[in-house]
Amino acid sequence: MHVLLSGAGKTFGTVRALAPVDLEVADGEFVAIVGPSGCGKSTLLRLVSNLLPVTEGRVEIDGRAIKGPVTQLGFVFQQSTLLEWRTALGNVLFQVEMRGLPARDYRARAMALLDQVGLKDFANAHPHQLSGGMKQRVAIARALVHDPGLLLMDEPFGALDALTREQMRLDLEALWLRRRMTVLFVTHSVDEAVLLADRVVVMSPRPGRIERIIKIDMERPRGLRARRDPEFLRIEEEITEIFLSRGVLSRAAA
Ligand SMILES: Nc1ncnc2c1ncn2[C@@H]1O[C@H](COP(=O)(O)OP(=O)(O)O)[C@@H](O)[C@H]1O
Ligand SMILES: [Mg+2]
Repeated sequence: MHVLLSGAGKTFGTVRALAPVDLEVADGEFVAIVGPSGCGKSTLLRLVSNLLPVTEGRVEIDGRAIKGPVTQLGFVFQQSTLLEWRTALGNVLFQVEMRGLPARDYRARAMALLDQVGLKDFANAHPHQLSGGMKQRVAIARALVHDPGLLLMDEPFGALDALTREQMRLDLEALWLRRRMTVLFVTHSVDEAVLLADRVVVMSPRPGRIERIIKIDMERPRGLRARRDPEFLRIEEEITEIFLSRGVLSRAAA
């Protein structure tokens, strides 16, 4: 799905959460948004999903202004928010039930997705039997079961330990290479953004605006090697410089 934000901004009363943003995301593109806490990253995703209406500008999906909730969409948050009394499979199917779709028609697809996120043997496990990373894997499968053209991810790996996070990054890339849905991935991790995305949108501190958009031309799959790629190191440095110049990071520590 193609996403276009034209001067899209959000104000809550007198609080400006997001300064007007212009951003175009191509069909099948993976775009990461990185910026300090409070700069409006979550707000931006909510504007795209129309969970929140814009207070200025417009958002278009596939060339049309959005009206009402966007249905061809999957959302993954920092917390997996699984239903404790349902199995992994049951949680994935909850998405289709909520949409009034016949769960039985989606069972095979749900199982295939659980397989693709590495949980083939855990379809019947309950959330309390799963690790944090496994729960996020269920949440990703749940977000994709109705085959949305657009996946919105809001710091999906933010609550995971570093090693799990790295594995999730590798697996998400593999999943995306296979399905090629459009992804908007919000993170405060510069590494994660650069390693995953086709383009990285760097945001300034609040009220957030787009500071720079950086194209990442590294071969895929990027794997573990990419961390030593000179291109990765160069771009990481470039983004760090932006954050230093904006006071997000302090020179004293650098
Ligand atoms: N419902 C709301 N009412 C008032 N202010 C809000 C609301 N949601 C977010 N904000 C403010 O908007 C700014 C951006 O928030 P958010 O999009 O959550 O930032 P981020 O996800 O980048 O941390 C913050 O200053 C936040 O306090
Ligand atoms: Mg947020």
